[in-house]
Amino acid sequence: MTRVVPMDPQHPDPEVIARAAEILRRGGLVAFPTETVYGLGANGLDPNALARLFEAKGRPATDPVILHIADLDALPLLAREIPPAAWTLARRFWPGPLTMVLPKQPVVPDLATAGLPTVAIRMPAHPVALALIRAAGVPIAAPSANRFGHTSPTTAQHVLEDLEGRIDMILDAGPAPIGVESTVVDLTRPVPTILRPGGLPREDLEETLGPVAVFDRSLTGPAPAPGMLPKHYAPRAEMVVLIGPGDWIRLRLRELATRYLQEGYRVGLLIAEEDRPAVADLPAEIATLGSERDLAGIARRLYPAMRDLDARGLDLILARDFGTQGLGLAIRDRLVRAAGGRVMRAEDSP
Ligand code: TXA
Ligand code: MG
Repeated sequence: MTRVVPMDPQHPDPEVIARAAEILRRGGLVAFPTETVYGLGANGLDPNALARLFEAKGRPATDPVILHIADLDALPLLAREIPPAAWTLARRFWPGPLTMVLPKQPVVPDLATAGLPTVAIRMPAHPVALALIRAAGVPIAAPSANRFGHTSPTTAQHVLEDLEGRIDMILDAGPAPIGVESTVVDLTRPVPTILRPGGLPREDLEETLGPVAVFDRSLTGPAPAPGMLPKHYAPRAEMVVLIGPGDWIRLRLRELATRYLQEGYRVGLLIAEEDRPAVADLPAEIATLGSERDLAGIARRLYPAMRDLDARGLDLILARDFGTQGLGLAIRDRLVRAAGGRVMRAEDSP
């Protein structure tokens, strides 16, 4: 039985939080909102609870999880050899959509880190998440609350669709405000390296740290850490991402959609408001993410739109890219991974 409990996102009911925290302390699983996506929480120091967590998600044990904390004091309890840059980032961006990879303390179970000598840590900026972590009194391991390989959940309803009957409780505080996962930064390398672009833009990190590297596994192949499978965030239809100038994208969207529709395919389009006039007359299923100038809105609507298109039984989804500035990098990463790396670039085609 999975209980869904509604909550005020700004003022979580302390009694409900206390009950959820008790479930976590006893080794149970509670899904909760963060500012990025919904997480599936378990006691991050309890190997049995972690085993249940992997089981519920259907997640391979080779994929390490993020430990969520509510106070800076918890950082040195979980990580060692914390460089000054990590403290600077923590003070500037926590609570927020930033995850730091650091050498782990022995107290962190191998199951949490997939046997790696490092641990991923984040302090989320959602009042419900912070209240829950504080009440539990332990770091909370929380991957996105979806079945492994599915699209990440931004609402309690999405969590229920994937995990009903497999977890104890879902705290429902409405849609997640950012809509894509945190930025994962590895601080154990000579140059800080973004392993997964996310809700904290690269530019914000560079303002604080100077140049950072981006490990762009979506576009360049093999993974730096176990568990970083390229095909992830995946809808069931085949997906292709168009990368290039707006005019080229609109031309190609129309051309490709027309061709595949003529061949009898059911075609979906994941596009910007600005693209709509170019395709509005076609019998395709259209999901508009908003204006291409509003990257925050695009990020927030991305996963719900992918779920929505996915539910319409399509053969092919043509998605458009939004560049690499700010949140654009995270949006591209998720699109390209959902497409299993299938991209068409203006520079490669006449
Ligand atoms: O926004 C988020 O980060 C959400 C919310 C719930 O906090 N959580 C999330 O967790 O996205 P998950 O498990 O879906 O993604 C965790 C990412 C994976 O890409 C994993 O490979 C990476 O963090 N990761 C975890 N531990 C790591 C480590 N020790 N070294 C390198 N990467 C690590
Ligand atoms: Mg995930």
